[in-house]
Amino acid sequence: MKIFNLKVLAPVGALIIVASTSLAFAHGGATGIVKERMDLMASVGKSMKTITEMFQGEKPYDAAIVRQAASFIGNHGGEQMTRLFPEGSIQGPSESLPAIWQNWQRFSELADDLTKYAGALAAAADNPRGPGMGSGMNQGRQGGLGASPMGRRNPMMGQSADGMPMNDPAALAQMSPNAAFARVTQTCSACHTQFRKKQ
Ligand code: HEC
Repeated sequence: MKIFNLKVLAPVGALIIVASTSLAFAHGGATGIVKERMDLMASVGKSMKTITEMFQGEKPYDAAIVRQAASFIGNHGGEQMTRLFPEGSIQGPSESLPAIWQNWQRFSELADDLTKYAGALAAAADNPRGPGMGSGMNQGRQGGLGASPMGRRNPMMGQSADGMPMNDPAALAQMSPNAAFARVTQTCSACHTQFRKKQ
């Protein structure tokens, strides 16, 4: 009887291990809240890729698609983003740094900035694509867009580097789409630089 039980139990145990391993690897081994936010970031990244291709001239500019993708990003910033970062949740394959909870105010500010600037981009998608008001952002041939938008970091980030009022949605909506796009990319990289492990 004893021997029989062992024979039955062994394969069952092996099955359970196989099943939970394949579940856990759905996003590089992430589970729970960590997986939820990796999924969120990944979909934000996907929308950003769609927009970036247009601003870099790889795809024809389509204001409706820009508006849609920017709205998606905007709707997933702020509180929607920060609620996925409960204190100390860096288990598994998470790339989050503990600095998030040591500097929560800055972290939430950047999450809010994402919503603000993605909202500005959605609102400004149909504006002329030249340099925006305050063309201090005119860093490249398309105005407001550097040669390498994801790589370029603006040390004045958050300080109205381009002379734009930073908190007035009506004024932000007057920006050129390129200037708004630059703000969005700066917000992604500012947060990753400070709060995400280097790749
Ligand atoms: C408020 C801070 C913040 C902002 C703003 C932000 N991110 Fe992230 N992002 C993070 C953190 C932290 C991680 C690491 C999450 C983890 O692994 O726990 C991350 C991870 C990612 C990942 C990897 C997801 C994966 O598959 O594991 C992508 C892609 C990404 N972000 C894209 C973006 C893009 C694009 C933007 C701007 C449109 C952006 N993020 C804005 C903080 C931010």
